[in-house]
Amino acid sequence: MKTLAPSILAANMLELGEEIKKIEASGAKYVHIDVMDGSFVPNISFGMPIISAVRGVTDLVLDVHAMIINPDKYIDDFIKCGADIITFHIEALDNNRILSSIEKIRKNGKKVGISLKPATKAESIFPYLELIDMVLVMTVEPGFGGQSFMYDMMEKVSAIKKEIENKSLCVDIQVDGGINSETIKIANESGANIFVLGTAFFKSADPLRLESLLGE
Ligand code: DX5
Ligand code: ZN
Repeated sequence: MKTLAPSILAANMLELGEEIKKIEASGAKYVHIDVMDGSFVPNISFGMPIISAVRGVTDLVLDVHAMIINPDKYIDDFIKCGADIITFHIEALDNNRILSSIEKIRKNGKKVGISLKPATKAESIFPYLELIDMVLVMTVEPGFGGQSFMYDMMEKVSAIKKEIENKSLCVDIQVDGGINSETIKIANESGANIFVLGTAFFKSADPLRLESLLGE
């Protein structure tokens, strides 16, 4: 499955309901929700009230990207607010807490994603691939929208894709940061299948659809 995951970080917060309708009209299956705490990343975005509000107006998959320290403390809250996928950063937890977080999310019937910052090596995710649903490869330094795509992350995407195929697993690869009508094609060719777009989706005059972006 391939889909866009528009990030509401770039949405007009005063018109969030209308912005969600725009996502639905695009054919995207996911809404990407960037939670930032000002500690794991140098920016603060939003948290539980926004996740609940979005849940109240859509049946799309709520894809929560937690850029926070101690993400394991908030798993119950994310679930209560209606998250369908909870993605935390591999850099935020030690091995034991990564394993217990995966177990907790799965026990609740939700999907688990693990994200890698640009400096984190592809191999660091290999031991967890059998246990998770999605790997999020950051294609910018997490924290802000509107940054430029890091082309050198495509090697990491390919290496993870190869490992997933070698192990015959069914794990999605999501890319996030600087995705636009040009970089989405490169990420697609490298093996990614879920594409987060903030700026390119909400600041674009034309409605963006996956099919037109990938020319498929
Ligand atoms: C950045 C966030 C992204 C952000 C992407 O840390 O994780 O999801 O919204 O924004 P663009 O698409 O503008 O790079
Ligand atoms: Zn994100």
